[in-house]
Amino acid sequence: MSLQRQLCAFLRARAQGPGWARAKATVATTVPGRLKSLEELPGPSVLRCLYWYLLRGYLLHMHDLQGSSPSRRGGAAEGAAQSDARAPCRDGERWHRLRQVLNRRMLKPTEAMLYAGTLNAVTSDLLGRLEAKRRGSPSGQGLGDVASLLYRFALEGIASILFETRIGCLEPQVPPETQRFIDAIGCMFRDSVFVTALPAWTRPLLPFWDRYLRSWDTIFAFGKQLIDRRMEELAAQQERGQEASGYLSYLLACGHLTPTQVYGSVAELLLAGVDTTSNTLSWALYHLARDPQAQANLHREVTGVVGGQVPDVPHLAQMPLLKAIIKETLRLYPVVQVNSRVAVEKDIIVGGYLFPKGTLISFAHFTLSRDERSFPEPERFLPQRWLRAGAAPHHPFSSIPFGYGIRGCVGRRIAELEMHLALARVSGGVRPHIHLW
Ligand code: HEM
Repeated sequence: MSLQRQLCAFLRARAQGPGWARAKATVATTVPGRLKSLEELPGPSVLRCLYWYLLRGYLLHMHDLQGSSPSRRGGAAEGAAQSDARAPCRDGERWHRLRQVLNRRMLKPTEAMLYAGTLNAVTSDLLGRLEAKRRGSPSGQGLGDVASLLYRFALEGIASILFETRIGCLEPQVPPETQRFIDAIGCMFRDSVFVTALPAWTRPLLPFWDRYLRSWDTIFAFGKQLIDRRMEELAAQQERGQEASGYLSYLLACGHLTPTQVYGSVAELLLAGVDTTSNTLSWALYHLARDPQAQANLHREVTGVVGGQVPDVPHLAQMPLLKAIIKETLRLYPVVQVNSRVAVEKDIIVGGYLFPKGTLISFAHFTLSRDERSFPEPERFLPQRWLRAGAAPHHPFSSIPFGYGIRGCVGRRIAELEMHLALARVSGGVRPHIHLW
């Protein structure tokens, strides 16, 4: 059996079985004969990878290389799933405690839904900006650079959840300190590619490392300032005998986190929650703009459910096409192209290969979710493949853009809520025959 098919067999067993233990046993006991070593795993050499990354310029387009080595691809996916143990990194116990605290107010669907009002208020501002852009365009129809507006929308959304305050990203004139923060995030992400890829001895010689650190300083300083300001407000509220609400109040009051952990967690959430949702929304709108029929169908679904009202969580449950559009967008453009695990607890066996304890194993989302065996015509944007009526069966692990298991995306519920609300309101208000840009 090929490694790919072995992977599918494993994943199928995993999906059908009662838990990890049975799934792992299935893999281990169905592998016949001698186990092969990592060195026998087919795939490009280190030199070849360097050639593609550095000389052929794929460093900034790594997803395009993902499909070029199918055998490694299978091993990577299975390994990623296998290594999802309770303590998935050296600092596992500490991380796990922190993560349990974050999960409580982020991942529990009932808790995440409480942010709908906040996100709807931010979405109203987004619609206001879109309308202003449309009115200001020479044709009275164009929207110009929607992607950067969506970036500011996502930043405003997550900041208003975390800090319970607005930071002005959607104001016509973004406040200078917010703009510095936005620029620092962009700069940090750009430089992170070079900082990760280049050896440490190049740091004093090239501009990336210093600039990268300066960006982080700006990001932390901005977050710390907002947290400190909110802490003062909370203290004043407490003195007045008022009850505090909101995510930050929860983190501070839960008693399980040190101030450093609160600063760190908030900065991480703030960063992870911006380009992820905004890029997904940009791609969804791009495809809708190219497909008037899909636009019309979505418009009909949304207006049929909410009429002229602002959608709320119960409405979203009646909008399968809306959800399918986001799923299909994430299948085609999984914002996190690769995520990895180090199996710290034990060796793992995948498709006849032995991966020793400590091996870094990567899950190549981009390639897996464009595999034609799971998704016929994989390059096409076909939201109906996620609807019960138009669905061809596909494996539940064939597209997992939020990762999987206890280390999966902590912001998933908030991300989905934000994207669903924004898309519902944008498409509910846009006349379907108008191209979005
Ligand atoms: C389209 C939206 C998003 C996608 C596709 C996405 C995807 C992911 C993926 C693939 C991971 C790694 C999971 C794993 O290793 O199994 C991750 C981790 C994470 N995400 Fe998201 N994410 C999104 C939005 C958000 C938002 C809105 C937030 C914050 C509110 C967020 C916060 C985080 C954090 C903090 C982690 C690290 C979790 C940990 O290591 O414990 N994400 N995300």
